[in-house]
Order: sequence, then structure tokens, then C-alpha cells
Amino acid sequence: MNEITTRPNDLDAFWMPFTANRSYKSGPRLLARAEGMHYYTPEGRQILDATSGLWCVNAGHGRREIVEAIQRQAAVMDFAPTFQMGHPIAFQAAAKVAAITPAGLDRVFFTNSGSESADTALKIALAYQRARGQAQRVRLIGRERGYHGVGFGGMSVGGIGGNRKQFGALLPYVDHLPHTHAPERNAFSRGQPAHGAHFADALDGLVALHGDTIAAVMVEPLAGSTGVLVPPQGYLERLRAACDRHGILLIFDEVITGFGRLGANFAAERLGVVPDILTMAKGLTNAAVPMGAVAVHEDIYQAIVEGAPAGIELFHGYTYSGHPLAAAAAIAAIDLQAAEDLPGRARALEGYFADGAHSLKGLPNVTDVRNLGLVAGIELTPREGKPADRAVRVFHRCFDAGVLVRTTADIVALSPPLIAERGDVDRMFGVLEEAIRAEAA
Ligand SMILES: Cc1ncc(COP(=O)(O)O)c(C=O)c1O
Repeated sequence: MNEITTRPNDLDAFWMPFTANRSYKSGPRLLARAEGMHYYTPEGRQILDATSGLWCVNAGHGRREIVEAIQRQAAVMDFAPTFQMGHPIAFQAAAKVAAITPAGLDRVFFTNSGSESADTALKIALAYQRARGQAQRVRLIGRERGYHGVGFGGMSVGGIGGNRKQFGALLPYVDHLPHTHAPERNAFSRGQPAHGAHFADALDGLVALHGDTIAAVMVEPLAGSTGVLVPPQGYLERLRAACDRHGILLIFDEVITGFGRLGANFAAERLGVVPDILTMAKGLTNAAVPMGAVAVHEDIYQAIVEGAPAGIELFHGYTYSGHPLAAAAAIAAIDLQAAEDLPGRARALEGYFADGAHSLKGLPNVTDVRNLGLVAGIELTPREGKPADRAVRVFHRCFDAGVLVRTTADIVALSPPLIAERGDVDRMFGVLEEAIRAEAA
């Protein structure tokens, strides 16, 4: 053990993100090492990772190919700017991404996170509308229960009250579609629920209200962070058609659905609906180095770039857009995904994984189970007057029993690495079952 894997003495300085800092620091759960499907605590206890870290380590932990690519690149060139300069590996990484995005979405803008990808996509949408002579299209539409990170754009277009209420007025000119969650009709659906395509028709209502001032609609094809909301059958198709009817761009936030999670490179491919702009992050580098990207349709690129006067065409970018270490990790991760056909593996395991998830139906307090690809959400009845308490306690029990799950409100979410085996699936649902039973009261 070295200093990286031993327990820190002082937990005060790190103001932890999206964390109940006081409660966490009074009983910290630490992860010190990771390999394949597992984390290890500083004491060496093995924890099965049923959440791919935070929906991001799709190929499993510590993959040699990715580690070596990062090491090689760090030794060759640590950093070079991409403003009015370039380095080969950033162009290679963009071409790799473009090769697996849906046809037409072949221009790739690099960011460092999902939040930056969301804000970048929104800015590109606004710039596009202006470039094509529709400068009145300044309005951005999100969806209730949508999560697009924590930048001002993504937070405003996102539809999570708790993420917004501390931060004032946010962006102006934003409106929201209704969410698609309809447990009264769809509870315990396997895969896409049958009811709810009509939720997309709300866009017509927003157009009636706002006229031709809407630039773009941004949604997650499958909403993860707010508790695994699987798109109803026909919903995304209807949203796509409504956007086309009204001259509105459709943005898919694929930060968690990309890179094999739903049994295809992207949800767009799995679900057969192609957006105009697609955001990604997380699995792009298998989370080994932070990186995000936005894939943009050729027509949008042409309108903004080819239509601009000489000089910089888009006044946007990050110091680390296309960072050499991230680019190296992305290339290695995409190659690994292809070599091991991780989307195909996810698809092959999907039925077994769904069986495991739905076997929890009938346990005390389980009000819904939903799934698609290697994602499952298990919704529990909240404790009277104590929202989220039951799920948090289930989470702690699972961790103590050696399985890492994730919770949002009273929903438990599972999204294991795509290299999971049937035995891993048995273990994660077995431990979760025990924990749910133990929290029955
Ligand atoms: C759909 C979606 N968009 C954006 C983000 C934000 O990504 P990041 O935390 O990398 O900024 C997330 C993170 O979970 C996400 O799930």
C-alpha cells in the first residue's frame, strides 16, 4: 500500500460534490483501487461496481490498453493548445468519434465533461439559428426531470428543482416539456413502456405559446440521473417529427447512454431516432481522463463555419478541448469498445440483467422496476416524512455487503460495466434483494 491507497487523515479540505458532506465525513466510505468489475477499499475489501463508477467506466476498471495509451502520450507530449494550433492525436480522436456516431453527425467539438458538452450544444444551436437567419430563435426547451449537468445552460434547461433552487434566476428564455414518467400505466415495463408517446405533443403547445422563437429541444433519450426514465415507445419519434415540423433542432444528451450502455454505440442507434446534435462524455475515455464531446450534423457545421466571414467562426472552446491525454484515452477506449464488441455484450446480457431486475418485483416497498440496455431503476416507497431515507439505507447495506449501487430520491439505479458476467448480475441483484428486505419496515 502506498499513500494513494491508504486512508487520508484529514477529510476537511475537500468540499465534496453532490455529497452530504457532514454525514459523509462522519462515516466515510472510501475507494482506493479498482480493477475490472471491482473497487477495493483501503482495507482491501472488494466491492462489485454495479454503477460503472458514475455511469462511465463502461469497459471495466484499469484497462491496460487505456492505461498504456495515456502513459505513452504523457511521455510524448503533455499538452498543446488547440486554439489556432493543433496536434495529431486530437484530430485522430475526433475521427474515431465521428466513425461511431450516427451518419451525418460527423463534426466533433471537444469539451472536458458532460456539463460542458451540454452548454456547448446549446451554444452551437443558438449560433446555428443565427447563422441561418433565424436570430429570433433564442429559446431553449428542456424536459422536467432532465439532467444536463451543472453549467448555467444545462442547469437551466435541466428539469431538476433541487439543482436549481439555490442559484437564482438562471438563463432566461427556457421552457420545459413534461417528463415521460407514467407509473400508473407503465409500472414494471420491460424495456420501452407502451404508454406515453403523446408526451412529445407538448412541444406543439410550446410552439403555440412561443411561436418561432425556439432554437432547440434538449433531452436525454433515457433519463438516468433522475431515476432511469425509459422513453415510451414512439415518444422520441414523435419529438423528432415535431422538431422537424417547427424548424427546431433536436439535441440528445447521450452522456450516459453513449458508448454501448444501451447495447449500441449510442441510444440514437438503438432507438432509431437521430438528433441534430449529440452530446457525450463519461464512456468516451472510459472515464480514465476527463473528456466530453459534441457531435454535430454536417449542415449545422456548414451553416456556422462555411457561412462565416474569414476568421474564427465559433467563439467558444476550452483550454483542454482535445487534450492530448484525453484524446489518447478516447482513441484507446473506442478501439477497446470495438475490439471487445462491448455494445454487443451489453445487448447479449440485457435479457438476463432485466430478469434479475424484475425478479425484485413483489419485494416489500418495490413500486416499479424499469430497464433498458444495462440500466435498471428500482423504485421504492418513501418512508413517511423521510424522503430518500429508505434508498440511502439500502445503498449503505449494499456497500457493506460489497456491492456499489446508486440512488436518486427513493430510486436505486444500476448500470454495471458492460464486461459484466451473469455471476456479477446474480450478485448485484442478490445483495440488493437482501438490502430491500432488510429495510422493509
Ligand atoms: C445526461 C447527463 N448529462 C450531463 C451530465 C453531466 O456530466 P458531468 O458530470 O461530466 O459534467 C450527466 C452526468 O451524470 C448526465 O447524466
